[in-house]
Amino acid sequence: MGKLEGKTAVITGGNDGIGRATAQLFTEEGANVVIFGRRQNKIDEVVAQLGENALGVQGDVRNLADLENLFLKASERFGKIDIVIPNAGVVDLVPIEETTEEIFDRSLNVNLKGAFFTVQKSLPYLNDIASIVFISSIAHFLGMPTHTTYTTAKAGVRAMTATLGSELIPRGIRVNCVTPGVTDTKMLWTMGGFPKEAVNNMIEQAVPMKRVGNTRELANTILFLVSDDASFICGEEIIVDGGQVNCMTV
Ligand SMILES: NC(=O)c1ccc[n+]([C@@H]2O[C@H](COP(=O)([O-])OP(=O)(O)OC[C@H]3O[C@@H](n4cnc5c(N)ncnc54)[C@H](OP(=O)(O)O)[C@@H]3O)[C@@H](O)[C@H]2O)c1
Repeated sequence: MGKLEGKTAVITGGNDGIGRATAQLFTEEGANVVIFGRRQNKIDEVVAQLGENALGVQGDVRNLADLENLFLKASERFGKIDIVIPNAGVVDLVPIEETTEEIFDRSLNVNLKGAFFTVQKSLPYLNDIASIVFISSIAHFLGMPTHTTYTTAKAGVRAMTATLGSELIPRGIRVNCVTPGVTDTKMLWTMGGFPKEAVNNMIEQAVPMKRVGNTRELANTILFLVSDDASFICGEEIIVDGGQVNCMTV
């Protein structure tokens, strides 16, 4: 029997990258899965791959009506929801002098506001024993030029994990956070427009394990946190980064 048999999970950004791998793993573990993103063609592709226990809903996490529609559609199809993964994210790497209000708002609105309202809009539909896993980024620990709007948002996501964790405990809802390091997705290879070689050099120098993480490694950690294996864990952050934050090798 799968670890998520009979459960229903909603994953924003479930049509690509880490979210897609998580949707795949959750389905293998017996869950009904609802994925959400802007690109309908990617939603259709992933739902076709996941099979009959999957539903796709198109929308933008910046739009609160889209989030309300997401949870309405999810509950109409599958009933109460047990798991929410506010995973949708974007990264803009821009020096402070060139950061426009539009870039600032986009980063904060997708990565932070989107995650917050994903949780808020889910609450009327959640089972009283439920699990939420935010996705932060190790960038919020590291001082890296040009990352300010992204790291500000992701530090906020980490902070929400503890505050919402304490606020939702009375309902039996556990809130935790997975914090990825460099992970093999479109986001990593397109951010900043750096050539692949430059990204590989950075990985060689900065990641003690000298490789990128794969999306399945991230999905495995998210699965652990939403499953009963983590039934006494709340407000916690698990870093999945090949040792980049905590393990010096020189
Ligand atoms: N890859 C890394 O190295 C890395 C490192 C640290 C943290 N993370 C975090 O991990 C999470 C997943 O990223 P990823 O690497 O899997 O990136 P990805 O492959 O680029 O996927 C991002 C997902 O978010 C969705 N999305 C983006 N903007 C959205 C919006 N406004 N509304 C709804 N959906 C939206 C995208 O779908 P649509 O484009 O169809 O909307 C896509 O499914 C993000 O929160 C990211 O910050 C990634």
